[in-house]
Amino acid sequence: MKDTLRIIIGKRKLKERVSQLANQISDDYKDKNPVLVGILKGSFIFMADLVRKLKIPHQVDFISVASYGSGKRGSGVVRWLKDLSINIEGKHVIIVEDIIDSGLTLSYIRNNLLTRNPKSLKIVTLLDKRRRRKTKIPLTYVGFSIPDKFVVGYGLDYDERYRNLPYIAWLRNERDD
Ligand code: IMP
Ligand code: MG
Repeated sequence: MKDTLRIIIGKRKLKERVSQLANQISDDYKDKNPVLVGILKGSFIFMADLVRKLKIPHQVDFISVASYGSGKRGSGVVRWLKDLSINIEGKHVIIVEDIIDSGLTLSYIRNNLLTRNPKSLKIVTLLDKRRRRKTKIPLTYVGFSIPDKFVVGYGLDYDERYRNLPYIAWLRNERDD
């Protein structure tokens, strides 16, 4: 199957926006020593760039869930693959996500983390496909709102490919026709 990539957010724009998000978080979390919780695998590049721009003390941890199988369609079924190693009770937690689509995955994760009694729990997502939302979810920091198109790059994959692209691109293949 032939894939076509079209860049929708370039390298420079990503860098600039990630810096802005980091500045905002640095202002909002002064003296709060937040725990940034990345959702693997998609968030790993965003997380790496974001924390290098933070100006405040913080901790980093990851969880891994499987929500997508290997194709493009979300099942809403979440399988827990890796849990936190930090105890977040009484801590200020920021979930770091690559993209929010239906919101089902994140909603499940958020509810799970809330049962561990963090002092606060907010979400930063690089991308937001707002029109696809199936459940209400409060987003504090959003990098870019994007249309309902399947995108890859900057950590996001299609069948584990394209995560390394330094930009966000719309992936179009024959299945779209
Ligand atoms: P949700 O539960 O429907 O919000 O699914 C969220 C997860 O699906 C994200 O964390 C991504 O891993 C994956 N996902 C959703 N849309 C895309 C996309 O356009 N490209 C790559 N992965 C996506
Ligand atoms: Mg993800």
